[in-house]
Amino acid sequence: ISFCSSTDQSFQQCFSSHLPPSNITYDVIFTQNSSQYSSILQSSIRNLRFSNASKPRYLVTPYNEDHIQATIICSKEHHLQVRVRSGGHDYEGLSYISDVPFIVIDLFHIRSVMVDIKNEYAWVGAGATLGELYYSISAKSNVHGFPAGSCPTVGVGGHISGGGFGTIFRKYGLAADNVIDAKMVDVNGNVLDRKSMGEDLFWAIRGGGGASFGVIFSWKLKLVRVPPTVTVFKTVKSLEQGATKLLQKWQNIAYKFHHDLFVHAVIQVTNSNQNPTVQVSFDCLFLGTTERLLSSIQRSFPELGVTQENCTEMSWIQSVLYFAGYSIAESADVLLNRTTQSTQPFKAKSDYVKEAIPKTGLEGLFKMVVEEETSMLILTPYGGRMKQIKSSATPFPYRSEYLYGIQYLISWDVADETGKRIGWMRRLYKYMEPYVSTAPRAAYLNYRDLDLGRNSYPNTSYVESSEWGLKYFNHNFNRLVRVKTLADPHNFFWNEQSIPVLRLE
Ligand code: FDA
Repeated sequence: ISFCSSTDQSFQQCFSSHLPPSNITYDVIFTQNSSQYSSILQSSIRNLRFSNASKPRYLVTPYNEDHIQATIICSKEHHLQVRVRSGGHDYEGLSYISDVPFIVIDLFHIRSVMVDIKNEYAWVGAGATLGELYYSISAKSNVHGFPAGSCPTVGVGGHISGGGFGTIFRKYGLAADNVIDAKMVDVNGNVLDRKSMGEDLFWAIRGGGGASFGVIFSWKLKLVRVPPTVTVFKTVKSLEQGATKLLQKWQNIAYKFHHDLFVHAVIQVTNSNQNPTVQVSFDCLFLGTTERLLSSIQRSFPELGVTQENCTEMSWIQSVLYFAGYSIAESADVLLNRTTQSTQPFKAKSDYVKEAIPKTGLEGLFKMVVEEETSMLILTPYGGRMKQIKSSATPFPYRSEYLYGIQYLISWDVADETGKRIGWMRRLYKYMEPYVSTAPRAAYLNYRDLDLGRNSYPNTSYVESSEWGLKYFNHNFNRLVRVKTLADPHNFFWNEQSIPVLRLE
């Protein structure tokens, strides 16, 4: 590691002076002159829209909490902003870019997973990926799992602190609903667990976004019981095959299905012979056998025409591979791969629907979707367990009144297409306004969208931040502001969408 400038030396000296003598200090801090700096920085940039953005002064790769404590203390002393990165999947790159001098704490070394099947919990390092978590659980039990997202390279640090849902959330709730304890370093460099941080802060970091409150380095998670056999099917319908009608029905029933049954709808464009058309794919995970699935779906959704031939039985961990786009014949070892299969620039937004969108609304939507061949809309049914959990139980508020959530995505290859693609996304969002939730127009923090609003630097007024804060957190926003004001009164953990500190003005 080369510390050329006196500022760099001073940061390193500060860092070393705050460590116990026995703790290692080599290979933790990387300056821009270090040969490994670029590869570490690029390693988990998941949205190529930000690959050329401003770079951190240092990359800090802690091995333990002592390193995190020392980094926070020295960043404050050196007036450097801190960005924390676990899996790097933030949609707006907030874990690794900033407009002011900053450092990135990348937690990829802190990723051990300790699974206790007898007592049905796991301790997982915040830098672990979902794939590493799922793999470690399945290595010990084929009847335990954890309800979180489908993409194995997503980091548990950002994902769980922002909510986290996947194919079994209708049965078990969000990832954040299944956290029993957590360890974090706060703004003063103190190590806190659930008991010492208190229930308010513990509540805030389970859905309110960890980055506003400190650096979480470990979660204790409640494992859930999954059956030894689960079943999947996928049915794809074009508009000519009646996709619109099916989607109309899906909107009214998918949230009422038994909580073992998850059927999401994916709207995409196909293009054969220069004739782009919309198709809707209904993808199902059922926590049980084909026989039980068929008796349920043939009764509730016969129009989908699902038969035994469409269904495949497998273990829960194979369903993880299936929804991640792998063959189920593949070894679960692929879940340990931390690099994504493909990375492109992309933009995403989210919405929540309380009343089924009428046929004319869907038809207008399809007209817009067909304009952009690389667009994709994922419609995720709520209901089930999500309906039973109080909307104030965690900062994620969208529980009982919502039929489904929508994620809008568009990706592209060429840098100069950015404006056009984002323009399309904003027009689509505008088009959807009459059909989705209002006051607030709900959004999901983990699908971060800076179009919703951004904080001023270094301080933001409550009014300014409520623009985006109410959309993500609704009535829970005020409690988050109170917790933030106590936990980080000088707003050290600032970012473009961090929870603001309440000031007496
Ligand atoms: P990253 O490291 O970028 O962090 C995201 C945010 O959390 C940043 O603000 C960061 O500073 C903060 N943070 C990270 N680690 C922290 C820590 N240890 N302590 C404090 N703050 C921390 N979501 C979902 O619910 N279900 C899904 O199925 C998917 N699927 C999916 C697929 C793909 C390809 C992408 C790119 C994203 C998703 N997501 C998702 C969204 C995902 O949950 C969201 O982007 C998470 O915030 C990613 O967490 P990472 O740790 O990977 O991101």
